[in-house]
Amino acid sequence: MDVDNGMCACWLLRYVLFFLVSLPFLQSEDVTMVIGEVGGSVTIPCTSDLQEKSLDFMYVQRPGSNGNSNRFINGYHTKKHIELTEYTNRTRVDHTQRTMKLWSIRPSDEGLYVCHIQYQTKIILENIQLKVTANYSIPNVTVACDNGSCLVTCSSDSGYPRRDVEWSPNPPLNQSHWRAVNSSGRRDPVTTLFSVFSSISVNCSSGPQLNLSCAVGGALSQEHTVCRPQTGSPDYYVISAVVAGAVALLCFLLIGLFVFKERKARTARVNQDGEEAARTAERVQLTCMNTHS
Ligand SMILES: *[C@@H]1O[C@H](CO)[C@@H](O)[C@H](O)[C@H]1NC(C)=O
Ligand SMILES: *[C@@H]1O[C@H](CO)[C@@H](O)[C@H](O)[C@H]1NC(C)=O
Ligand SMILES: *[C@@H]1O[C@H](CO)[C@@H](O)[C@H](O)[C@H]1NC(C)=O
Ligand SMILES: *[C@@H]1O[C@H](CO)[C@@H](O)[C@H](O)[C@H]1NC(C)=O
Ligand SMILES: *[C@@H]1O[C@H](CO)[C@@H](O)[C@H](O)[C@H]1NC(C)=O
Ligand SMILES: *[C@@H]1O[C@H](CO)[C@@H](O)[C@H](O)[C@H]1NC(C)=O
Ligand SMILES: *[C@@H]1O[C@H](CO)[C@@H](O)[C@H](O)[C@H]1NC(C)=O
Ligand SMILES: *[C@@H]1O[C@H](CO)[C@@H](O)[C@H](O)[C@H]1NC(C)=O
Repeated sequence: MDVDNGMCACWLLRYVLFFLVSLPFLQSEDVTMVIGEVGGSVTIPCTSDLQEKSLDFMYVQRPGSNGNSNRFINGYHTKKHIELTEYTNRTRVDHTQRTMKLWSIRPSDEGLYVCHIQYQTKIILENIQLKVTANYSIPNVTVACDNGSCLVTCSSDSGYPRRDVEWSPNPPLNQSHWRAVNSSGRRDPVTTLFSVFSSISVNCSSGPQLNLSCAVGGALSQEHTVCRPQTGSPDYYVISAVVAGAVALLCFLLIGLFVFKERKARTARVNQDGEEAARTAERVQLTCMNTHS
């Protein structure tokens, strides 16, 4: 028994010494960036060095912050079972490729991951930064014009990370001719994705019509024409009617005058230029009718 214990202690000591002294501890300063889309999947590459065959175990953890301890995500061990975590159903470790696949990505998955790979001869630590994105929806634009100014709103949802609404007036608009009225962003408590909203007021009295579009992240809205001349407004019809009436009146006066003169001429003179004059009268009448329509 004593001999056995002694041998065991000796072996243990050698084992510990072996680990403490001979295992080089390689911690990479580099951080590998990987990008994943919400709902999609991503492969976290723990190391590109696949030459080393003597893998004991590997695992991935998320470093704790604000006093929280490290969080074990998933791993592989040649001899032991790996404990289950909240990530077990969304991750799979491929120990031959030294990767971990993560799927059904959520915004909360964003952050730093540390791979711990233990070979019989060395330990490797690798840092991987996961950036999570979600495309914003094509923005909806509404235009409401009143009293010489237009209120234009732009809204887009289901994006990540948070982005601002960017307005693009075409042609470019002088800053003094529009102002931001309202903007907001909120986070859906279930999906944890962002919805953003912005409204601006454009002063129509200070320029011609213009086309507006808005963009959120890479999502661009359609162009909307604002401050277009109000073809439907009462003013337009009144002006049109007055102009048309004036033109018609002028034509009738001209024709009447011409015909009156012609009659006078006919009675005074022999009917020699009559046909020519009638044709001219016809031409004037025709011109007037074209102008009128
Ligand atoms: C993982 O999936 C199994 C079977 O679908 C389920 O029973 C278990 O509750 C899930 N675990 C977690 C942490 O979601
Ligand atoms: C998100 O946008 C990128 C770039 O425009 C595109 O490559 C990707 O397919 C989009 N993803 C989805 C889920 O539509
Ligand atoms: C439009 O402007 C006029 C004067 O500038 C004001 O009296 C009127 O209340 C305004 N109407 C609306 C709907 O804002
Ligand atoms: C945009 O409009 C569509 C159709 O009216 C609607 O289903 C969608 O929720 C709107 N999106 C936003 C961000 O308002
Ligand atoms: C914008 O308007 C201001 C004052 O109305 C004017 O001084 C300035 O030149 C304008 N800028 C442009 C680019 O039109
Ligand atoms: C700003 O927008 C929010 C959301 O649409 C609305 O509830 C609020 O009344 C708006 N505020 C102003 C000053 O228009
Ligand atoms: C629009 O601009 C004109 C002059 O450029 C100014 O007199 C008017 O008050 C402005 N209207 C609004 C609603 O800002
Ligand atoms: C605005 O849009 C209209 C219709 O799409 C187009 O005819 C016009 O040329 C555009 N104006 C500018 C300045 O791009």
